[in-house]
Amino acid sequence: MGVPFIDLKRFESGFLDRWIEKVTAMSGTASFIGGPEVAKLEASLSERLGVSHTVSCANGTDALQLALRAMGVGAGDVVLVPDVTFWATFEAVVNVGASPVTVDVDMTDGGVDLAAFAKAIDDHAPKAAMVAHLYGWGSAQLKAIRQLCQDRKVMLLEDGAQCYGVEFDGKSIYRDAYISTTSFYPAKVLGAAGDGGAVFTNDAALADKVRQLGNHGRTQHYGYGSVGWNSRMDSLQAAFVNLSLDYIEQRLASRRQSADYYRQHLRGLPLRVMDAPAGYLENGYCNVCHLDAPRRGTLEAALKAEGIGFGNIYPGAMSAQPGTEGYLRAAVTNGRATEYCSTVLNLPLFPYMTAAELETVVAVVKKTLA
Ligand SMILES: Cc1ncc(COP(=O)(O)O)c(C=O)c1O
Repeated sequence: MGVPFIDLKRFESGFLDRWIEKVTAMSGTASFIGGPEVAKLEASLSERLGVSHTVSCANGTDALQLALRAMGVGAGDVVLVPDVTFWATFEAVVNVGASPVTVDVDMTDGGVDLAAFAKAIDDHAPKAAMVAHLYGWGSAQLKAIRQLCQDRKVMLLEDGAQCYGVEFDGKSIYRDAYISTTSFYPAKVLGAAGDGGAVFTNDAALADKVRQLGNHGRTQHYGYGSVGWNSRMDSLQAAFVNLSLDYIEQRLASRRQSADYYRQHLRGLPLRVMDAPAGYLENGYCNVCHLDAPRRGTLEAALKAEGIGFGNIYPGAMSAQPGTEGYLRAAVTNGRATEYCSTVLNLPLFPYMTAAELETVVAVVKKTLA
């Protein structure tokens, strides 16, 4: 039996009927931009996450760019970014005209290394810093990172594209961020039927600025207070995410169960299944294994032969990408990011994986590595 790396089609019974009804009703009234679905989504997210303001936008990359622009980051500013993340984190800094400095990874949790982060603040006087909460949790050092940024007057933007449903100290991880973002890319934990994103903050002025920038800098319909762009989330995407929120708790429970199943059943093998640091409730976004390069090659071949999907997020450090040329101000590194990226392998993980699928994956990994 083959197992896909990810299967986005396992909708709950009744979900697609409800979605089709929504599309029909909204098409009948030509409700395509703004309106009640967008307002409902922003209000529900603020309530669920415990943040004062949610501003929806076109995608998770725009969310980062809107946040940076609203923070006043632009030409001449330095922004710290993790050396292990998705490229959008790096790209957003360049797209607002600022200069990125990458910060090495903490091998234990995949976040930034606290000592390297502190050194980067000392050496490069950044105006802002970004961290990315990858894989389904955040850094073990999140409190220290937030405190350091506050003490050193560095604005901290938390890229939360992957962490919907993550709890830190019993609360949503987004709640105590100065400003944070998410992505509704369909493969994310809370995905849309296309692209979408959001910015979260407890600061009303910052939220107003994000909203203005994402709607052409408008202060009135034909009055412009700044130069922004069109980053509105469309109403059909908002309606799909609203519908998905009715099922999100069961999806999260299923993801968490599968993430845990791998940990329970892959013990004692020459690979390390990453886990959320103490204080976190993970969202089960993905499985992350680390194993040495030769074993990883052998395992990849075995999985392929059995029709089992696998991934490698992320195969290379940001600072090693050819696209950084001309933009990377500096890399604060102990050389760990490249080593870290070269040992990652991700096993299938998505909502409603069956017991048979999980058993199949585990059996192949055991047979190959034991
Ligand atoms: C960490 C991270 N940041 C940013 C993004 C960008 O989001 P989007 O694809 O919605 O632009 C993603 C997802 O693709 C991501 O995983």
